[in-house]
This record gives sequence, C-alpha cells and structure tokens, in this order.
Amino acid sequence: MLTKRLAACADLVTGKGIACDVGTDHAYLAAELLRTGRCQSVIASDIGEGPLEAAERTLRQAGLLSRAQLILSDGLMQIPAEGVTDVVIAGMGGETMIHILKESPWVQQGVNLILQPMTKAPLLREWLAENGYAVRQEKIVQEGRFFYTVMQVQYDGEKRILSPFIRELGDVDWREAAVRAYGRFRLKLYRGLGQQLMQAQPETAEMYRALARELEEKCIEQEETV
Ligand SMILES: C[S@@+](CC[C@H](N)C(=O)[O-])C[C@H]1O[C@@H](n2cnc3c(N)ncnc32)[C@H](O)[C@@H]1O
Repeated sequence: MLTKRLAACADLVTGKGIACDVGTDHAYLAAELLRTGRCQSVIASDIGEGPLEAAERTLRQAGLLSRAQLILSDGLMQIPAEGVTDVVIAGMGGETMIHILKESPWVQQGVNLILQPMTKAPLLREWLAENGYAVRQEKIVQEGRFFYTVMQVQYDGEKRILSPFIRELGDVDWREAAVRAYGRFRLKLYRGLGQQLMQAQPETAEMYRALARELEEKCIEQEETV
C-alpha cells in the first residue's frame, strides 16, 4: 500500500508506455504501478547504488523484477528515452528537479511528467512557466500535519508569467478539503511573516500580507460555498 503522497503520483501516470520512476529509492511506486496493472513495464532509477539495491529487493520479493529495468542514473541522463511515456520525480527538492529536466530535454516530446517537490515548489513553478512547461493539474495531499504538492506537467513550448499567488501556492482547486486546510496553514504563516518582517524588510512583509489577503478571500469564498 502506498502513502497518500505516492498514491497521488501513481494516479497521474497514464501507463500508455514505460513509466520511469526517477529517484525510486525502495521502488514502492514502481512496484505498485506494475502490481496494479497501471503499467506493463517500468524503469526504476536512482543516483545511488544503495537505493537501487533496495529497489531490486522490493521488485524481486514482489515477483515483478522481470517487468522492471533498474538503472543507475543522475536524473534521466542514463535513461533510454524510447518508449517512455511517463516520468515521475517524487520526494526531491525543486532545484534537483530543475537540474534533471534541464539535462534531459527529450522529456519535451510529449512525456507526461509527475513532479512532487519536497522543497522550493515556487522556484520550480517559475522555472516550468518560463521554460514552456504547462502544469496541467496540481493537487495538495495531506498526510497528518504535512502537506505535499503533486503536479502533472507537460511541455507545450508556451512561456507563461505566473502571478505571485500562483507561483507561491500553485493553481490548485480551492473546493478540495486538503487544499483549504493547506490554505489555512499557509495563511497563519503569511500573517506571521507579514508582521515579523515589517520593520526589517518592509517590501517582503508587504508581499506576505498581499498573499495573506488573497488567501483569506479564497478561504472565505470557499467556506461560503461549501
Ligand atoms: C527521499 S527519496 C524519495 C524516494 C521516492 N521517490 C519517494 O518519493 O518516496 C529521494 C531519492 O532520490 C534519489 N536522488 C537524489 N537526487 C537524484 C538524482 N539527481 N537523480 C536520481 N536520483 C536522485 C536519492 O538517492 C533517493 O533515493
């Protein structure tokens, strides 16, 4: 059974061809894609030998090794592009994801990208927008007191300019309970930063206050309609 975070990534895999799980670690996601029949074959890749050995153990124990290729690779550099329709990059920082996408422009040929950054999501959103990648959908997943963002992305060559609000929080569906809970969590943070930084960094403080105002509107709007 996958965590909610990885299950949300798996849900966005088309399964039309080979799915590549970059930074697979224990290959839990790759194994689940095979076990559920969503994918016929997968590539489980990692930059580390230890994680790749763990991936091999998981797949062998589940009897799924014959449908998986295990590849030691920094990002997608050693991955053969042929037949790959889906690439999942989950559980890493946004900057590492940018590095991986920059180094492998073949993903621009119609590949369905599923990105689940643990840090620097705003930086990743900005880079995607500036470099012609469209975020088709973005979801918030809540596991206990933690919130995770999961993006489905595809290259279409169109460069975009994001509003500060979308850059910071993503283009998410405010009717969803997890998104509203996330909104309330961020609202507290922005209100606090808006206060704390007022003397030392007035411009940054104003940015947080503006985000808080927009967030209040979103949360209030949704409370009224739910
Ligand atoms: C925290 S684990 C995430 C595992 C799994 N993807 C998940 O989301 O639960 C991060 C994994 O990414 C791998 N990794 C980090 N940088 C990488 C890179 N540039 N290319 C491939 N794998 C990388 C690490 O070795 C590690 O196994």
